[in-house]
Amino acid sequence: MSDDLEVFRQEVLTELAGAADMRAWDAIRVGTLGKSGRLTTLLKALGKMAPDERKARGAALNRLRDELNRAVEERGKALEAAALEARLIAERVDVTLPPPVEVAGAIHPIARAVEEMTAIFGAMGFSVAEGPDIETDWHNFSALNTPDHHPARTDHDTFYLPPAPGLDVTRVLRTQTSGVQIRTMLGQKPPIRVICPGRTYRADHDATHSPMFHQCEGLVVGQGITLGHLKGCLIEFLRVFFDKPDLPVRFRSSYFPFTEPSMEVDIGWSRRTGEIGGGDDWLEVLGSGMVHPRVLANCGLDPREWQGFAFGMGVERLTMLKNGIPDLRSFYESDIRWLRHYGSDPLAPALLHEGV
Ligand code: DAH
Repeated sequence: MSDDLEVFRQEVLTELAGAADMRAWDAIRVGTLGKSGRLTTLLKALGKMAPDERKARGAALNRLRDELNRAVEERGKALEAAALEARLIAERVDVTLPPPVEVAGAIHPIARAVEEMTAIFGAMGFSVAEGPDIETDWHNFSALNTPDHHPARTDHDTFYLPPAPGLDVTRVLRTQTSGVQIRTMLGQKPPIRVICPGRTYRADHDATHSPMFHQCEGLVVGQGITLGHLKGCLIEFLRVFFDKPDLPVRFRSSYFPFTEPSMEVDIGWSRRTGEIGGGDDWLEVLGSGMVHPRVLANCGLDPREWQGFAFGMGVERLTMLKNGIPDLRSFYESDIRWLRHYGSDPLAPALLHEGV
């Protein structure tokens, strides 16, 4: 090989060895073997040479072209492999790490409140029972001792569903979670200790009412269950939920068709400052009572053998009080700023030892 070709060969091989990435490599490839690359130019120049000079030079150039082609290709493969390796290292994901904070969402305050209720009652031995949002009016009313012409039916502003062909029952969007009491007593033998959180519906809409809202029902059935158990259970729940160990709780007699006696439960607060547990005013937070003997009988339980207590609360109402949320409608507006403000950390579940 003539000296000039040897110099050229060394130059290209050194450049290739020094190419740090695919871009540098491609520049060398094009500059050498491309249409107007250095080697291509040398090959083109053969045409102007005398025949015997061309023969020797041509053979040398062809060998050089083969060698450089191979060298370029090999270096390209090596660089490609190195680039892939670097990417694999750079993009490695540790799936055990929490997501970066800026992409994390928040738990909606309603979901959070239900989680907290479940944690608190769970620690008292309750489990969670569920029922359908579309309920028969027997489960929603009749079995709960609310017969056809009972005024409580009209109080509820019920959404009635159109009759379903072939179905001989009246269906409603459940106006209360109390129907899950019936389903639970029909479905399992006492002793029973359940809470039933879920969506409920009434045709009502203003700053304190939404056509869809949430309730959490509670039911305990056993032998020797008394009003004392009901009071102890609800006082404990309210004090833990509001994180106020000395929260004043008052039981006031009331009426519900499915309990006897029935009681409204109030907590102490200040009308002036809104502070829970402070001041001399009372605020109603839930309904409760001893399960009516007729409701037990409707579910096949002998009221002389079994007793129980039940309660029901509005999840929105308790959440508004706990978090100082003024307008019920904001729960359902999906305003991301509101959700960021009132939402909770998805990676921090409701735990009792954190003082839920
Ligand atoms: N279902 C009642 C309502 O929607 C709340 C309620 C009151 C539930 C007393 C109960 C109870 O289980 O015992 O207003």
